[in-house]
Amino acid sequence: MKTLYLTSSLFILFISNSSFAVDIKRGQELHDSNCISCHAAIYGEKGNEIYTRENRKIDSLSGLETQLKRCKNSLGSNWPEDQILDVQHYLNSNFYHFKE
Ligand code: HEC
Repeated sequence: MKTLYLTSSLFILFISNSSFAVDIKRGQELHDSNCISCHAAIYGEKGNEIYTRENRKIDSLSGLETQLKRCKNSLGSNWPEDQILDVQHYLNSNFYHFKE
């Protein structure tokens, strides 16, 4: 019985760690180590001002996804879909607040 309990707990842990769950904290880490420096070099300050500037370009969740993928391509790295989603959710929950 105890083994069964342990196994199912591990299974649940596995599920909640898998790509089904969006991980905003990981999104922030990925964002801060990959994306900020270029934005900061162009727009100054800490690099996050680009998301709240008055004439920002993004006006929908799908627009955010498109721009994010475009920017990610300029990094030249091949990110799996779940990492892209994590960063997208991080940006949306902290700066854009589009309805999901
Ligand atoms: C090589 C430089 C560079 C890198 C690296 C970069 N970006 Fe960008 N990003 C830009 C530029 C330039 C713009 C402005 C584009 C425009 O105004 O049309 C931009 C704009 C954006 C915007 C839209 C801002 C707005 O107006 O609302 C988002 C969102 C964004 N980037 C996300 C990311 C993410 C996420 C990453 C990391 C995966 C990233 N960027 C990496 C250069 C970069």
